[in-house]
Amino acid sequence: MEGFGFRKMVLMLTIMVTLMANMAKSELHNVGGSKVGWGNSNVNLTTWSLHEQFHVNDWLYFGYDRHMFSVLEVNKSSYEKCNEGGFIKNITGGAGRDVFQLLEPKSYYFISGRGPCWQNVKVEVTAVPYIAPAPQPAAPHSASDYTHINQTFVLLILVFIWGILFN
Ligand SMILES: *[C@@H]1O[C@H](CO)[C@@H](O)[C@H](O)[C@H]1NC(C)=O
Ligand SMILES: *[C@@H]1O[C@H](CO)[C@@H](O)[C@H](O)[C@H]1NC(C)=O
Ligand SMILES: *[C@@H]1O[C@H](CO)[C@@H](O)[C@H](O)[C@H]1NC(C)=O
Ligand SMILES: *[C@@H]1O[C@H](CO)[C@@H](O)[C@H](O)[C@H]1NC(C)=O
Repeated sequence: MEGFGFRKMVLMLTIMVTLMANMAKSELHNVGGSKVGWGNSNVNLTTWSLHEQFHVNDWLYFGYDRHMFSVLEVNKSSYEKCNEGGFIKNITGGAGRDVFQLLEPKSYYFISGRGPCWQNVKVEVTAVPYIAPAPQPAAPHSASDYTHINQTFVLLILVFIWGILFN
């Protein structure tokens, strides 16, 4: 049946375009608004972060003077206290050009170790999901369930749909 085949193709294409549009939406943010924004005394990182929209899967780029600064992911209390001990992740690569991907919908905290943190070389970044979670009054961890739709999962769905349509 030619008509049916065409409809299946259109449906398949629609699904693929929708999925790819969602997967491709991964932005790179230069922290502080430039390639040398981390530790730049002309930049208020708090203001910068407030004016930026971060989504899950986006990347952060930390560009800085490697002799002066570092990048550590820490928890909220360590961020507030400029405590570099017991950090979550040391992102410092050594070249002053580090990247970090925001994989979860939550607030991330980054500081430059030791002195610079006290000079406000630190930033809070809140990543939001693309797919707005439906209101779920009773379920406590519904928000994170939604965002665990990663690329592997999407591909599995795609293969599954493909199997049904072209069997
Ligand atoms: C940066 O901006 C925030 C508000 O956007 C302000 O509260 C803070 O005092 C500023 N920090 C510095 C060091 O100027
Ligand atoms: C944050 O990390 C520090 C250092 O590892 C730890 O002492 C503190 O208990 C942590 N705070 C929270 C709220 O997890
Ligand atoms: C983080 O890693 C860098 C590069 O490997 C290293 O020089 C630095 O001491 C580390 N920072 C901490 C707090 O461990
Ligand atoms: C993606 O989802 C698959 C299946 O749900 C899971 O096995 C895998 O660990 C996930 N990968 C990441 C990076 O979260």
